[in-house]
Amino acid sequence: MLLPSWEGLGVGSGAQCAQNIRGSLFLALCTLRRERVFRARCVEYILPSLQLLEVNWPSLRGSNFSWRAAREAYFPLVAGAFRPEGLAVNATKVTAEMIRRMKGQKIPALTAYDYPMAKLLDEIGVPLILVGDSLGMVVLGYPDTTRVTMSEMEHHVRAAARAKPKALLVADLPYRSYETVEDAVANARRLVAAGAEAVKAEGGRQILDPVRAIIAAGIPFLGHLGMLPQSVREEGGYHVKGKVESEREMLLADALALADAGAFAIVLELVSPPVAQELTQKIHVPTIGIGSGPDCDGQILVTTDLLGTFPWFTPKFVKPRLNAADQMRAAIEEWKKSI
Ligand code: KIV
Repeated sequence: MLLPSWEGLGVGSGAQCAQNIRGSLFLALCTLRRERVFRARCVEYILPSLQLLEVNWPSLRGSNFSWRAAREAYFPLVAGAFRPEGLAVNATKVTAEMIRRMKGQKIPALTAYDYPMAKLLDEIGVPLILVGDSLGMVVLGYPDTTRVTMSEMEHHVRAAARAKPKALLVADLPYRSYETVEDAVANARRLVAAGAEAVKAEGGRQILDPVRAIIAAGIPFLGHLGMLPQSVREEGGYHVKGKVESEREMLLADALALADAGAFAIVLELVSPPVAQELTQKIHVPTIGIGSGPDCDGQILVTTDLLGTFPWFTPKFVKPRLNAADQMRAAIEEWKKSI
């Protein structure tokens, strides 16, 4: 017999946790019995818990109520209390579905390529951590992302996953690893086996078959439109997309297609800010911008750009918050002199 642990819920005082446990027990009961009479009381228990957890889930209210939605919204948040691992379990694990429901909220996302950075970002409460193939440039010293291999991605995903983040851990499918449906699914599965909880690939309608196959295999998918770094050699540089009407139309059609195919969010890289704003208004999943202006739902950055640990190149749109390379140089100089 498993005993729920209050702390396993990870939210607030004993009374708040008790409320959450009551809510989840009640929901379990209602789900089993499927009786309408239970519904009102179930909602009465669950809604305050979701408020405590700062989750706004409108489909638990009124005529929109759906059991499936209730289960999906609620159980991942409280399930920790009922797992054998007890206290060690992270009750507020972020899922792709939760990111999808953050449409309209500001979603901070950053890259991590190893255990300490994934752990640090997670402790700060960043809900989406990307093991991006940008690691090719900022960690492995390649000139662009097209040299990154599946084995390199797996190695870094494993390192980041050892941090067991609450955040959703997304991994990039590297260059040419998703050209066929079979490759896309096999390689997405390899990244999941390494510890990723979702995958990202670059492109819109031209990769729709692989995207659908990945989603059909049960792997959450994050889209990536605009400037596509894996195409930098064909494109001859990193250029802003959407400045001309034909590009705007293509971006819109691609974003709608990815959202309809089931992507839980879409990264917009170097998309002209008015077009990024329009896409954000027109698609039903969150947009996560990088160099695409302030009007996307979320923002993502390559963490080394933000912290200044790769000082030899900083994209124009990034305002580093720290000049870590200078601080590291000074510390090492000081140590050198001290020996
Ligand atoms: O590889 C990466 O880090 C990315 C982000 C720039 C979005 O794709």
